[in-house]
Amino acid sequence: MKNKIVRNICCIGAGYVGGPTMSVIASNCPDLKVNVVDINLKRIEAWNSNDFSQLPIFEPGLEEIIKKCRGKNLFFSNKVDECIANADVIFISVNTPTKTKGIGAGFASDLKWIESSARQIAKFAKSHTIVVEKSTLPVKTAETIKFILNSSEQNYDFSKDYDKKTFSIVSNPEFLAEGTAINDLQNPDRVLIGGEDEYSINLISDIYKNWVHQDKIITTNLWSAELSKLVANAFLAQRISSINSISALCETTGADISEVAKAIGSDSRIGSKFLKSGPGFGGSCFKKDILNLVYLCRYYGLNEVADYWEKVVDINLWQQSRISSLVIRNLFGTLSKKKLAVFGFSFKANTNDTRESPSINISKNLLQEGAKLCIYDPKVNPDKILSEFDGILDDDNVFVYDSTKKAAQGSDAIILLTDWDEFKSLDWKSIFEVMRKPAWIFDSRVFLDKQYLKNIGFKVWSLGS
Ligand code: NAD
Ligand code: UGA
Repeated sequence: MKNKIVRNICCIGAGYVGGPTMSVIASNCPDLKVNVVDINLKRIEAWNSNDFSQLPIFEPGLEEIIKKCRGKNLFFSNKVDECIANADVIFISVNTPTKTKGIGAGFASDLKWIESSARQIAKFAKSHTIVVEKSTLPVKTAETIKFILNSSEQNYDFSKDYDKKTFSIVSNPEFLAEGTAINDLQNPDRVLIGGEDEYSINLISDIYKNWVHQDKIITTNLWSAELSKLVANAFLAQRISSINSISALCETTGADISEVAKAIGSDSRIGSKFLKSGPGFGGSCFKKDILNLVYLCRYYGLNEVADYWEKVVDINLWQQSRISSLVIRNLFGTLSKKKLAVFGFSFKANTNDTRESPSINISKNLLQEGAKLCIYDPKVNPDKILSEFDGILDDDNVFVYDSTKKAAQGSDAIILLTDWDEFKSLDWKSIFEVMRKPAWIFDSRVFLDKQYLKNIGFKVWSLGS
């Protein structure tokens, strides 16, 4: 059997996963040429910008790697066909959002971008190519991809030469979290590689072994790898809904959610991570992946299992409407003619991503009650913020400011929705001075020093206490 040497990688999709993941591969494997391709030309131009503040994604540590590798062994382009043709390994890292119409709408993942990637690969690949599922996919998607790829070619025979156009499929789901993506990729808890032939699994493992210890590389079959990714996200989200459900009980009983989280988290069987109560999980994946799991369970007739996981999403939405109602109730039941400062619009700190951000739902709930919103976020582009209110934006109901103080000027309340570090060290005294009295702070992230703020004169509501 000839040994195939992987020299050229192509990644389809230059998004939050494709960009950082390929950057870290390029940085650790200087002998590999890594091409990241995307049909979104604006995004590619941003990746190639020499003004690094214009990179399409903000991730701590990303800029340094781009400076080191771009133009050397890391390239961003829209030359999808050419890069597919030259690749030994192709990572598919395209979006897989929840379907909005048709069968499974509201639950199933929309796989049209996966299908079009597979069709492009089938058309343009030239020799044996390993196709890696990096996107999060419903279990059994590899079967569809295989079908598309193999409808153009016969199965690969490892004992033959490599000029034949044939395919192997590997599932290598990504576990990075935004805001810590570079560290997660550089020091992963594990790398999961599922496949049908040992040969392809080993080739993909060899890429990671350039910087990941082999004990952390878990190999398995395709279906276990695909399913494990959905289940990992479901378990993480479930912890958040669990602790958030208890935050409501704390508020009515005099218990304190931080104390409860600490007490239960010190049990090593439970563990302390992912027990931070807040305005509900956001981000592009938790909700989509659980809904997808729910869809799969119903598809296979497992209705009780589906109902169980769907509750995790229900509680998440409930937490957001609960917080909105609490703000309204504390502000005398009406927001008409009230100005509210929203601190934080990204779905978590250290990212400019707003997908499914709790700030969106909560802001919309407050707008419906007649509030005027003054929003500040350190990283989210103002146009991006305003675009979230398309259709409900009036001339004078949403404003975006470039400082917390400007956003707070004349406002009745601050609604803290994202856990940006800079909110901890603000000059709260001078912010208090510019607000209308009584001046409220609603801390949905259990993030600020409640007593200190009360001493300044604020009225403080802190989640879960
Ligand atoms: P994204 O929307 O940021 O990026 C996807 C990119 O793919 C887009 O730029 C789009 O233009 C491009 N694309 C779509 N079809 C294409 C085609 N046929 N050819 C070329 N480019 C194409 O999405 P993302 O956040 O990077 O997520 C990608 C996948 O990874 C999803 O399945 C997601 O569930 C999964 N995932 C995401 C994260 C995360 O933190 N965002 C983490 C782990 C896994
Ligand atoms: C999550 C997972 O952590 C990653 O492993 C996974 O790869 C990724 O989804 C994905 O598949 O997209 P991400 O959504 O980027 O990563 O960020 P998280 O840190 O998981 O936070 C998700 C949401 O939960 C945020 O809104 C965050 O504020 C919230 N959260 C997180 C809490 O409210 N409490 C916590 O204790 C932790």
